[in-house]
Amino acid sequence: MSDTSAATPVPTPGTSTRQPAAARGAAHDSAFLRACRREAVPHTPVWFMRQAGRSLPEYLKVREGVAMLDSCMRPDLVKEITLQPVRRHGVDAAIYFSDIVVPLKAIGLDLDIKPGVGPVVADPIRTRADLERLRPLEPDDVRYITEAVGLLVDELGATPLIGFAGAPFTLASYLVEGGPSKNHERTKAMMYGEPGLWADLLDRLADITAAFLKVQIEAGASAVQLFDSWVGALAPRDYRASVMPASRKVFDAVAGYGVPRIHFGVGTGELLGLMGEAGADVVGVDWRVPLDEAHRRVGPGKALQGNLDPAVLFAPESAVRAKADEVLAAAGALGGTGHVFNLGHGVLPTTDPDALTRLVAYVHEATAR
Ligand code: CP3
Repeated sequence: MSDTSAATPVPTPGTSTRQPAAARGAAHDSAFLRACRREAVPHTPVWFMRQAGRSLPEYLKVREGVAMLDSCMRPDLVKEITLQPVRRHGVDAAIYFSDIVVPLKAIGLDLDIKPGVGPVVADPIRTRADLERLRPLEPDDVRYITEAVGLLVDELGATPLIGFAGAPFTLASYLVEGGPSKNHERTKAMMYGEPGLWADLLDRLADITAAFLKVQIEAGASAVQLFDSWVGALAPRDYRASVMPASRKVFDAVAGYGVPRIHFGVGTGELLGLMGEAGADVVGVDWRVPLDEAHRRVGPGKALQGNLDPAVLFAPESAVRAKADEVLAAAGALGGTGHVFNLGHGVLPTTDPDALTRLVAYVHEATAR
């Protein structure tokens, strides 16, 4: 369902009068946005999922004594943490520092991010009555995001800022299970056993997610990524019937802004075509499917993002370069543009940050045209 109001964003009262579209203008011709639009690029752009965070000593330092979710609500910290990897690695895009559970916390759910565990929900969502706790997200619930994005866009200039959200399935998994899950038993039990309740849950999450992305875009984010990290747990038939409508609703809701929409999941080899169909402009690919094959599965008209195995960064530099070359060679199937270099999943916390910096320089050098 498309939201026609999306085309004419209304400035949030009390915030800067600077037009977000104008703020984005500085980044319009960046290699990253050009690649997302499948235009000619000066070099293949690079950024890393989880480029901000535990691999960086400067991150560990500023986070000392500040809980994860508290740090997400402090614009000064968000700005600093988002900029750290841009300064250090020279990546082609910044990713806004936050977490996929922030909008759920913002509407009042009792949840926390436990170090070494992940998001934990005090009272899981399992019944129709529980759905009432998932009220719509209002921009006022996340004013700190509007403020932090504004600060960042001013500072980043021509470097684009990527906003993001968790996709309805991945959020639902945390909410129904109550925390991280290997097999998603309760989530799937609801999906198969109570399809009406499941559809309503995903629909509410789609609205919350769309509202969360709109806040980031209206404040000046140049692109958005929908993380459906755990959707690879599903077979294509179930994805199409039970998940795709909600993810499509999110993509449709932000289509009018004209910012690239990236769709990412892990273990999604069999879902890549459907994830493109859901409304993405760019499909994120993990390391299990080479990009030429991913291109065949996604079809023409979409850019691809990926897909170096994050564990490769623990190998010697010559091996990292050889594996990066493989990614770049497979991306050749895209015809010279439409490739955003990334890892196949997030940076692992014990990664040597210098290995990342060297990789950025290598990809830039190897693809300079
Ligand atoms: O640099 C970036 O990519 C931006 C920041 C970002 C974070 N979380 C910060 C974070 C992003 C994009 C996310 C998204 C996110 N959060 C996802 C989707 C991406 C993916 O990895 O598939 C998921 C599944 C989550 C849920 C979540 N939050 C997990 C599994 C964890 C790790 C828990 C742990 O300690 O092992 C978090 C916490 C989290 N989010 C950290 C960071 C930097 C670590 C917290 C810390 O520093 O103490």
